[in-house]
Amino acid sequence: MYQDYIKIKFSKNAKTAEALDLLMESGDILSVEEAKDVLTILDLWENREKLIEKLHEIFPQGKWEITKLDGCDWDQKWIDGFQPIRINHRLWVTPPWQMDKIPENHEKIIINPGNAFGTGTHESTYLALKLMKGFLIPGDEVLDLGCGSGILSIAAMKLGAKHVHAIDNDPEIKDNLNDNFKQNELEEITWEIRDILAMDSFPGDLALINIQKHIILPLLERFSIAKEIPNRVILAGLLNVHRKDIRNALQKRGYKILNIRRKKEWIAVSAVLRRKNEA
Ligand SMILES: C[S@@+](CC[C@H](N)C(=O)[O-])C[C@H]1O[C@@H](n2cnc3c(N)ncnc32)[C@H](O)[C@@H]1O
Repeated sequence: MYQDYIKIKFSKNAKTAEALDLLMESGDILSVEEAKDVLTILDLWENREKLIEKLHEIFPQGKWEITKLDGCDWDQKWIDGFQPIRINHRLWVTPPWQMDKIPENHEKIIINPGNAFGTGTHESTYLALKLMKGFLIPGDEVLDLGCGSGILSIAAMKLGAKHVHAIDNDPEIKDNLNDNFKQNELEEITWEIRDILAMDSFPGDLALINIQKHIILPLLERFSIAKEIPNRVILAGLLNVHRKDIRNALQKRGYKILNIRRKKEWIAVSAVLRRKNEA
């Protein structure tokens, strides 16, 4: 028996896009799809009552169109639709069954989509991957905080990191993470399940942090009492409207922003610790 889904269509505008991105970010819906004039969200049919109640709160005057999708082999449909993503002229993210589509002399990050976040299709992961090139220095010790599928850890190793330590607080990701490290023959990446907001030291040259703002801000606070903090950070999972808060928080912790990249409403930021005598 396959599960049924609820599909809800909204006409597209910036306010609706931002509200739906936030619902997606907080795990309240399974997906948001963007077409020219329409935004479509998807969730399990069994969650429809809670979801509709929430939508009424967010869009009291809003109009939308609900459709029920009868169960079918969604996994197979999804698997068929998953295409390799090009990150730069030589680096791709691909599921294992599409590997033969990647040119021979190009680098592959092989990700088996599972229950962990991070297939490269989401803007936040894509932007973090984009910022890594040129910012990661070969030989870096890297921390991947909120590693999900391990996609950023794998990319870091492919870009020349000496070692990566990956951390996530969700025990459900273990098998998917292990499988992805194995697929990429990178079993030397170390990992642990733990809450990054309870850590008191963040040793490494570079930290990759693709999590939501409500985790990133307290994490940067935590840096102020940590024994060690990374010299460079990449922050992603942030919306463009968070730009000012993030800039202030980074500045307070002694980091200066080197680069901000944007895709749709999402941004990712790279920053480096200011030297002692630097203003
Ligand atoms: C947006 S996903 C990013 C996954 C992957 N790094 C990527 O770039 O696609 C954020 C991850 O952070 C993890 N996470 C959230 N809060 C955390 C916390 N306090 N400590 C550790 N991991 C956390 C989640 O379980 C999730 O896997």
